[in-house]
Amino acid sequence: MTIAQLEPLPLRHLRRGKVREVYVVDDDRLLLVATDRVSAFDVVMAEPIPYKGAVLTQITAWWLGQLERDVHHHMISADVDEIVAAVPSLADHRSSLAGRAMLCRRTEVFPIECVVRGYLSGSAWKEYKASGTLAGEHLPPGLRESERFDPPIFSPATKAESGHDENITIAQVIDTVGSDVARELQGLSRLIYGRGRDIAATRGIIIADTKFEFGRDRLGQITLIDEVLTPDSSRFWPADQYEPGHSQPSFDKQPLRDYLDGERRAGRWNGDAPPPSLPAAVVDATSARYLDAFRRITGTELDRTELS
Ligand SMILES: Nc1ncnc2c1ncn2[C@@H]1O[C@H](COP(=O)(O)OP(=O)(O)OP(=O)(O)O)[C@@H](O)[C@H]1O
Ligand SMILES: [Mg+2]
Repeated sequence: MTIAQLEPLPLRHLRRGKVREVYVVDDDRLLLVATDRVSAFDVVMAEPIPYKGAVLTQITAWWLGQLERDVHHHMISADVDEIVAAVPSLADHRSSLAGRAMLCRRTEVFPIECVVRGYLSGSAWKEYKASGTLAGEHLPPGLRESERFDPPIFSPATKAESGHDENITIAQVIDTVGSDVARELQGLSRLIYGRGRDIAATRGIIIADTKFEFGRDRLGQITLIDEVLTPDSSRFWPADQYEPGHSQPSFDKQPLRDYLDGERRAGRWNGDAPPPSLPAAVVDATSARYLDAFRRITGTELDRTELS
């Protein structure tokens, strides 16, 4: 089942993101549901991308499995049978939740986007090009776009409710969460990024940068939450096409971006909502890219038996 709008669930709806819907199960648990919505250039497309929601949820679940020994995380289950067993009121919604839902421990979220950058790209490249800095701190001169950082850079941002996240300094993180938590968030972010980068490298994917979120669970433990090392929270680049000195093709959204760029250049789209409607070939190519990301990262096919 391909889903842009999720049917109403018998749970309190907490939040609607560009891609995901968040529901309250009880004081201790949340249900995160990834729809098949896709955004590009900050605009959500009208057409859902088959399997995208399941790819995002199951990639997160796979990484959390890999990271089990490294970090305390929020996942209780991403298996729909286990979720329905734990929350029986969801039984009637089994087929729309299959693959895409994750039952999670609820936390109090730290209001910081813990970004780790292994390569100079996106907003970091823009700032560096303009002023030679990243979040106000100087980087070595002469770096090229997409150049690899060694070591990776912890580059936190604010969690903006609307509009763009803003890069902030470590000093601002310390002001917000205190120095102990700041140190821990930085250490965990670097550790997880390093693990992810090493695993992805063996599979032909560069994780150029990524964003983690953390919260504090009821027992006070710092907990990795949200989505983890997915194509939506990270920049994935095909390693065999990597070449510093210019921007890199996006592993997953390139067909979509190319199409939208073409529409813009042709004067048929001004870059704001509503977006142009997508030809089936663009939808299919994007779906294939997401499935390929899952296959490459996990080394297995996404189990689609219950998803279509
Ligand atoms: N375990 C958790 N406890 C509390 N909050 C959580 C937990 N896991 C994730 N969240 C929160 O759930 C929300 C997910 O919704 P979000 O709006 O980010 O959706 P999205 O689809 O990623 O959209 P966007 O592209 O707009 O970010 C985030 O605010 C995140 O902080
Ligand atoms: Mg989000």
